[in-house]
Amino acid sequence: MLLQELRIATASAHKQLEQSLALQSQAFTLGHYKNLLLAWYKVLQTLEPRVWDHEEWRKLGVETTARRRAKLLFSDLQFFNLIPSLRPEAPIDTQFGEFPKSFAAALGCAYVLEGSTLGGQLIVKTAAHRWNLHPGAGATFFAGHGSDTGRLWRNFLAGLEQWDTKNPKNATAVTDAGRRTFQIFETQLSKSICNLHPSKVAR
Ligand code: HEM
Repeated sequence: MLLQELRIATASAHKQLEQSLALQSQAFTLGHYKNLLLAWYKVLQTLEPRVWDHEEWRKLGVETTARRRAKLLFSDLQFFNLIPSLRPEAPIDTQFGEFPKSFAAALGCAYVLEGSTLGGQLIVKTAAHRWNLHPGAGATFFAGHGSDTGRLWRNFLAGLEQWDTKNPKNATAVTDAGRRTFQIFETQLSKSICNLHPSKVAR
């Protein structure tokens, strides 16, 4: 089953990312949180259209409108007055290349983007508890799909399963893309909070 293969292929990367972010640690400040939002925005701005613009999603019955979350992130950046920190002229990181190009790769990438909404439900609790942030006030992005999170996740998984049934030989392209997406997040997000882990300062 493709979902199981994705879970196995990305489990260690997820664990690593959770450790890198160290959100529960007291050393993780509001400043780190803001840097994280900026870095996440940069990743989503590039990946989201490439992932969700495929016509295949509709055929698989996967809703896509709510899954484009860069706009939620933008509203948090506005809340923190961070829009001037965005540099639209900055070149897209070469790490992305044309990724994800095929629909199989978009599926693997979408698994990671959508899966992050599950962890987001924990992050939003931390943000409320530690900095009094809420949806509409700095935590719009991590609140994400809110009470619709479970339903949208199941809707995505149903599409994934349906595609797997029709394309049983293409699993590797999907799992490779899942791993690559985690690598992109690991690089971009931990770069943004490097003073939390001085050993990781980008050179
Ligand atoms: C400190 C940050 C994070 C925490 C605490 C966290 C926590 C979690 C938790 C508890 C789940 C399981 C939820 C459930 O089964 O209902 C989950 C699932 C997932 N998370 Fe995270 N997460 C974090 C960051 C991320 C990030 C940054 C990404 C990707 C960019 C990510 C990708 C995923 C994926 C793909 C799944 C789905 C796994 C599956 O059920 O197949 N997570 N996360």
